[in-house]
Amino acid sequence: MNQSELKTYLDKTDAIIGKDWLQNATSEPSEIASYYTKLRKFYHKMHSEEGAMHFPIKPLEGGSHAEGLMFHVNDLDNIIKKNNYKRVMEFGCGVGFNIINLARMNPEVEFIGYDLTLNNLIKAKQKARERRLENVLFRKGNFDTMQSSDFKKQDMIFAIEALCHSKDLDAVIRKSHEILNPNGRMVIFDGYGTQKSRSADDNTLKAADYFSKGFFLPNPQYLDETLSSTRATGFESVLVKDYTQNILSNFVRFEDGVKLIFRFPRLTRLLIKFRILPIEVFRHGLAGLYGPFLLKYEYAGYFKIVATK
Ligand SMILES: C[S@@+](CC[C@H](N)C(=O)[O-])C[C@H]1O[C@@H](n2cnc3c(N)ncnc32)[C@H](O)[C@@H]1O
Repeated sequence: MNQSELKTYLDKTDAIIGKDWLQNATSEPSEIASYYTKLRKFYHKMHSEEGAMHFPIKPLEGGSHAEGLMFHVNDLDNIIKKNNYKRVMEFGCGVGFNIINLARMNPEVEFIGYDLTLNNLIKAKQKARERRLENVLFRKGNFDTMQSSDFKKQDMIFAIEALCHSKDLDAVIRKSHEILNPNGRMVIFDGYGTQKSRSADDNTLKAADYFSKGFFLPNPQYLDETLSSTRATGFESVLVKDYTQNILSNFVRFEDGVKLIFRFPRLTRLLIKFRILPIEVFRHGLAGLYGPFLLKYEYAGYFKIVATK
C-alpha cells in the first residue's frame, strides 16, 4: 500500500465495520485472551503448525519461513549458552513454541512459560508432555498485574511480541529488573512506534490506530521511550537491533491476503453480520492491512532490545 491508497482503504474499513465500532473497540486482558483463543487455529493453519505466533526474521533475500520462525530461539539459545544461564522465563509464551524449543536444546536449564491465555497454556503443557520435557513449566498470569515476588530469581526474561499488549510497559520492565539476577538479561523482540509517528498526518494516525486495534494493543509504545525507561530502571547496558526489513516480506504477504476481502466490502460486511467471518479475524486483518505501510514509511519498526543488569 502506498500513501495514495491509504485513504481508499481507510474509507473501505469504515464502510465495512463502521468508524464508531473501531473507535470504541478496546483491548482489555479478557478480550486479548479471547482473541488468542479464537485465532489459535488460524495461526496454526496459516502461519505455523508448530505454534509460533511471531513474525519470521529472514535474510533480505531467501531464507525459509520455518528458519525465520526459529531465528529468535537460536538467538536466545546463544545467549543462554554463552552466559551459562540456568533459569529462564518467557512472558507471553503462547502455545510454547520458543520455550519448548529452548528447553529441548538446554536440558540443564529450568524454563517457565508465563501467559494470560489459558487455552494457549493447555496446548503448551500438552506439547511439553508429549516431548517428555521435565525442565519447563507453565504458569497463568498477567504481566501487568504480577508482583516480582511471585517468581524465583531468573537469569533471563524474554518476550517475543507479547509486551506490546502491556498497559504499563515501564512497570513490566521495572519488575523484570527486580526478578533478574546480577548479570541477568531482559530480551524483547517487538514492534514499536518511531519518533516520526508522533508527527504523522491524520490518515497515518488513523491507520496506526486501526493497526493497534487489529492486534489488540491497548496503547502506543515508542522505541525511544522504551529504551529510556529501560535505562532509567537501572539496567547497565541496553542494546537495540533493528529487524524491520527482515519481517517486511512476510507482513506484505499478510497484507496481500487481507486485500482480497477488501475487494468486496459489501460481501465482507454481510459475512461479519451473519458471523460467518468472526469479527476477531476481520479485526486481526486490519493489522495485516496497515502494518506494512507503517513499517515501509518508517512510522514503526521491529526491534530486539537486550537489557543487561
Ligand atoms: C503474539 S503471541 C506471541 C506468543 C509467543 N511469544 C510466540 O512467539 O509464539 C502474544 C502472547 O502474549 C500473551 N499475552 C498478552 N497479554 C498478556 C499479559 N498481559 N500477560 C501475559 N501474557 C500476555 C497472549 O496470550 C499471547 O499468547
